[in-house]
Amino acid sequence: MEIPLSKPFLGEEEKNAVLGVLDSGFLARGRQVELFEEEFARYIGVREAIATSSGTSALFVALKALGVGEGDKVVTTPFTFVATASAIVQCGGMPVFCDVDEETFNLDSSCLERVLKREKNVKGVIAVHLYGLPCDMEAILSLKEQYGFFLLEDCAQAHGASYRGKKVGSFGEMAAFSFYPTKNMTTGEGGMVVTDSSELAQRCRMLINHGSRKRYYHEMLGYNFRMTDIAAAIGRVQLKKLEEANEKRRFNATFYNQALMDLCPRVVTPKVPEGRVSVFHQYTLRLQEKRDELLAFLRNAGVGCEVYYPVPLHKQPFLVDMVANCSFPVAESLKDRVLSIPVHPQLKEDELNVVASLIRSFFAL
Ligand SMILES: Cc1ncc(COP(=O)(O)O)c(C=O)c1O
Repeated sequence: MEIPLSKPFLGEEEKNAVLGVLDSGFLARGRQVELFEEEFARYIGVREAIATSSGTSALFVALKALGVGEGDKVVTTPFTFVATASAIVQCGGMPVFCDVDEETFNLDSSCLERVLKREKNVKGVIAVHLYGLPCDMEAILSLKEQYGFFLLEDCAQAHGASYRGKKVGSFGEMAAFSFYPTKNMTTGEGGMVVTDSSELAQRCRMLINHGSRKRYYHEMLGYNFRMTDIAAAIGRVQLKKLEEANEKRRFNATFYNQALMDLCPRVVTPKVPEGRVSVFHQYTLRLQEKRDELLAFLRNAGVGCEVYYPVPLHKQPFLVDMVANCSFPVAESLKDRVLSIPVHPQLKEDELNVVASLIRSFFAL
């Protein structure tokens, strides 16, 4: 039995939506994108949404709109996908890393406070809601109040997650989402910037469209980061299914929590602190030892699993020189202990049982 780590849930509705766009003969950014933006903004609880070609371009234009330029410092986590930091570098900015919390895998707010005290002129913070779990927003917002940085949320893995009843993506000046096929909802490739500010939204709309408001009049240097109507048509269907899919992810997570509980402390299941709702983009175990052996054992048995992420960003060759002599002990230790196992909404009960039993049998050996 092959059990993939992720599997997009695509059905007749998505196929028909794409065929509808093909029949219309209008494939580029059009009515479907407009509707997708409206529906997504309403879902997150913000005023504006701007669809982009990817989560990476969403992060990039958000940073540009927020004015990040040459030498500007932006603090973020080293324990994330590379795009979080490469977007900063692409703008000419300087990533400043901050260690993460062992239990939540997200920015550790006491480390963040230390970084803010130490570094002068931090322009912004990118809070990544890793694996679908919201960051400690109360602490981050209180530091924002004190230090006055802009907050950009990287919600690439957290569509629909919430903190004290409010959806992530609605806490900062701006937020960026990704619709890559492994994400909680997909458009193939695609992304979305959200914000309450009509001014920031206008800047993003120009940035993704060659710096123009009016065709062939270019007020600023821009890019082509537009989403197509084909992608948006898929996204609109996926958005309708998102809540149910996230519910199933939480059900799967609860199943594993119970099935693996007694393996603690050799295997520690993910914790969701009070007041936060995770959307379990990943279900990530922390192993005391033998992580690589378990990974090989599961893959050998046909179960997809992965290490997110094996190299913290301050150790990535293209960033090393920019962040010389830093050490982030928690991120550096987690990279050797984490293992993500299948939690996607299409898993059947027997598959959940197979995965849990394999892990249990590995530790009984
Ligand atoms: C945390 C994070 N940020 C940014 C991105 C970039 O998104 P994309 O692959 O759509 O460019 C991803 C996903 O790949 C991600 O996981």
